[in-house]
Amino acid sequence: MTRDFAHEELFRRISLLKKEMNALILAHYYTVPEIQQVADIVGDSLALARAAEKNEADVIVFAGVYFMAETAKILNPRKLVLMPDAYAGCPLADSCPADEFKQFKKQYPEAIVVTYINSTAAIKALSDITCTSSNAEQIIRQIPAGKQIIFGPDRNLGGYISRKLHREMILWQGYCYVHDAFSENYILKACREHPDAELIAHPECREEVLRHAAFTGSTKALLDYTVSSSAEQFIVATEPGILYEMQKRSPRKTFIPAPKDPDNPFSVCTQMKQNTLEKLYECMLNRKPEIVIDETLRLASLGSIRKMLEMTPV
Ligand code: 13P
Ligand code: SF4
Repeated sequence: MTRDFAHEELFRRISLLKKEMNALILAHYYTVPEIQQVADIVGDSLALARAAEKNEADVIVFAGVYFMAETAKILNPRKLVLMPDAYAGCPLADSCPADEFKQFKKQYPEAIVVTYINSTAAIKALSDITCTSSNAEQIIRQIPAGKQIIFGPDRNLGGYISRKLHREMILWQGYCYVHDAFSENYILKACREHPDAELIAHPECREEVLRHAAFTGSTKALLDYTVSSSAEQFIVATEPGILYEMQKRSPRKTFIPAPKDPDNPFSVCTQMKQNTLEKLYECMLNRKPEIVIDETLRLASLGSIRKMLEMTPV
């Protein structure tokens, strides 16, 4: 990627502020390339939660979506946690309101509640264990057989783990509009057009897409797979922001973003793209928007995040 003059100047100013503030910039793989370039750590949800937990910074600047920065604040109540755009929410997280989830839970009083990190602090407070797409399988495997499991809010990730482990789970019917938008017909058409390419997919995709994938895994697992696989071409069924890092790690390989279904053309996360270099600079300069969380809610939600980190040590 070429950097223009305006970008160069912002890079310079951000780097100065970073030193002045003793700030750590975290960015998700789905953000735009220039944000990934300026970040100290680029990762998937689990890597970023771990980085937020253990660091020496006074300020965490989180270029991702709201639940990610909120998780960082839950883990670091005394640090200033900033977001370039506090309106960058996650529609999947927002599709699971706490009052409705509480009623849902009441129907299964014996069940253990495992929820995807893509959820609000109020949902985490109602959960026993948080998970990400990287460690969901590892966590579910540790729950004794016979124990009922509620899994939310992503029905596709829950369904994938349930099929893989032959473990029945009670699923909240939420989904990520980005991954759920890939359709079997268009994916198969792309596979016919690129017969040498391997289809790789994120478990937030629908079952009929995952069924055709040579490899299914979290954003980080997909990235690692493209490095280790002998294939030279990949059709990538996840948010296309990850293609930047895939191409960087394997410059000679070809990465084809999985095609969008024209009837449902939403396979880019517009919320992640709300993080711009300008907003990142402004948020550091103005020390806002800042993530603020009520202390009672923070303590109530901390347990399920800590449990996840304990159950899946590095
Ligand atoms: P991972 O970062 O766990 O791959 O999850 C993808 C995602 O949709 C993040 O919002
Ligand atoms: Fe939420 Fe999906 Fe965007 Fe991830 S990609 S932040 S799950 S809407």
